[in-house]
Amino acid sequence: MTSKYYDTERVDSLVAEHRHRVVIGGLWEELGDLQLTTLKQMNLQPHNSVLDVGCGSLRLGSKLVAYLEPQNYFGTDLNTSLLDAGYERELSPDLRRKLDRANLVAHDATQSLPFQQEFDFLVAFSLFTHLSIEQSELVIRSIAERMHGRSQLLATFFVAPGDPNTAVEQRKGIVTYPDRDPFHLNKAQIEKLAQTAGLTAEELVHTSHPRGQTLYKMHAK
Ligand SMILES: C[S@@+](CC[C@H](N)C(=O)[O-])C[C@H]1O[C@@H](n2cnc3c(N)ncnc32)[C@H](O)[C@@H]1O
Repeated sequence: MTSKYYDTERVDSLVAEHRHRVVIGGLWEELGDLQLTTLKQMNLQPHNSVLDVGCGSLRLGSKLVAYLEPQNYFGTDLNTSLLDAGYERELSPDLRRKLDRANLVAHDATQSLPFQQEFDFLVAFSLFTHLSIEQSELVIRSIAERMHGRSQLLATFFVAPGDPNTAVEQRKGIVTYPDRDPFHLNKAQIEKLAQTAGLTAEELVHTSHPRGQTLYKMHAK
């Protein structure tokens, strides 16, 4: 098992205890606001479509459904119970009327995406930090297949400042690893991941993440 998120029994039992916000990492308002602000800084408009890969219990989704035109938000996650909790507990009845439950699909992001259309914005916040480099490559390739020429992928990574083969102490005492969760990559590895999917990676330095993750924008070359 590469990350605790593959232990669906554990996730289900925490969600049954109403701890769906804790399971996906807490900092519910702080990170949800940061993610929405980041998308707006990238010029997200209500008419745009957004695919949130590894969307969890809708920390960002609950805000995006409110902001976007009806049915323009799509999410995938490994854990059905997180999607259910997000839809049923984090969306008000009014917001549920703006989004069909079918827009949220249980899916392993290393497989081809379960949607046929292309999206204007694709986000993967705090997902690659839980995936090996091999898994991350599969995920970025499948995301790139659902991007058009002007699409933007926004994703966070833990970055190793130098040699990626040793453990790194990130901000707030979080230790990241090359080969176990939480995973890091160095800049060259992130740029190569983007390139193998036909994308260009750009580090966005102006955003300060409370856990020290680094935000990248990727787009078609
Ligand atoms: C730290 S949480 C972040 C959730 C959400 N992106 C957010 O920022 O609120 C990581 C999420 O990725 C999901 N996840 C982990 N591995 C995955 C995979 N291979 N495919 C799809 N989702 C995955 C987990 O179930 C979890 O909901």
